[in-house]
Amino acid sequence: MIDKIKGHIADVESFNAKTKDEIEAFRIKYLGKKGILNEYFAEFRNVPNEEKKAFGQAINELKTAAQDKVTALKEELENSQEEKGVYGDLSRPGEPVEIGSRHPISIVKNQITEIFSNIGFNVSEGPEMEDDWHNFTALNLPEYHPARDMQDTFFIQTDPDILLRTHTSSVQVRYMEENKPPIRTISPGRVFRNEAISARSHCIFHQVEGLYIDKDVSFADMKQTILYFTKQLFGKSKIRLRPSYFPFTEPSAEVDVYWGLETETDYRITKGTGWLEIMGCGMVDPNVLRNCNIDPQEYSGFAFGMGIERIAMLLYQIEDIRMFYENDIRFLEQFKSAL
Ligand code: DAH
Repeated sequence: MIDKIKGHIADVESFNAKTKDEIEAFRIKYLGKKGILNEYFAEFRNVPNEEKKAFGQAINELKTAAQDKVTALKEELENSQEEKGVYGDLSRPGEPVEIGSRHPISIVKNQITEIFSNIGFNVSEGPEMEDDWHNFTALNLPEYHPARDMQDTFFIQTDPDILLRTHTSSVQVRYMEENKPPIRTISPGRVFRNEAISARSHCIFHQVEGLYIDKDVSFADMKQTILYFTKQLFGKSKIRLRPSYFPFTEPSAEVDVYWGLETETDYRITKGTGWLEIMGCGMVDPNVLRNCNIDPQEYSGFAFGMGIERIAMLLYQIEDIRMFYENDIRFLEQFKSAL
């Protein structure tokens, strides 16, 4: 009988299993209620007294061997599955997946492009590093115009001048140089100005430029286009155009949207007037058209430009422009539900 048990021990020690089921079948065979070990334990009382000690030791040895085997095989199986990384314990709780959010500047930029693409505007882009021609000269900025002052512009190189574009109007010029009218395009992008950083202004920000060139385009067309836009973006249907000056448009205007005076915040952000300035615009100056090889006798058009940060600050009531660039997760997280 003891030899038989020794045979079992040898079997147990050489046993190997690859699956959970095989291990479980092995466990039941040896350690289960009706398993081999229990049979031997039941047999114990029939064993003659003088053999009891050796018999007892042998079955205990078998029991320990079987238990150790089961533990070792289970561990081995778990480790190999973990290495594969897929089929661990399927009942284990899942790893939490962090879902990111779009940056508020991207959200607002997407909203603006969406609104204009619905009325036939495409999206165009230009380089952030520009030459003097596209950022200034072609846009009718005379050589000694204050906007060329070193304080406003980051120069990369002089003679020839290479700079970080100070506005997305440079993309207008590139687009007109490469495309024939009719033109309907908006150009979102990052711009740079050598300005002190504060809650209200930053040396890096974003703009969206718009350009519409065709035969017989009028100031009224421009006003309707901008009105459509402000209705869509802000849900506000009253705008006013104040005469202004930009070198690249004539006449030029500043667009205010009527925000209202319903809340205390409205009072504060509109300085008690109810009006908020949101963009600059105007009829493209004939000089600019000529600079881009478009005949001003045949074509006319309008252009506009707005700051994305400013609009995002209004839409989300953000008080400090620096928030956009700090990438504080507590700030960014708040835009999870947005587009
Ligand atoms: N480029 C102007 C700026 O940076 C914004 C602007 C005003 C763009 C009038 C235009 C425009 O196209 O017509 O402040």
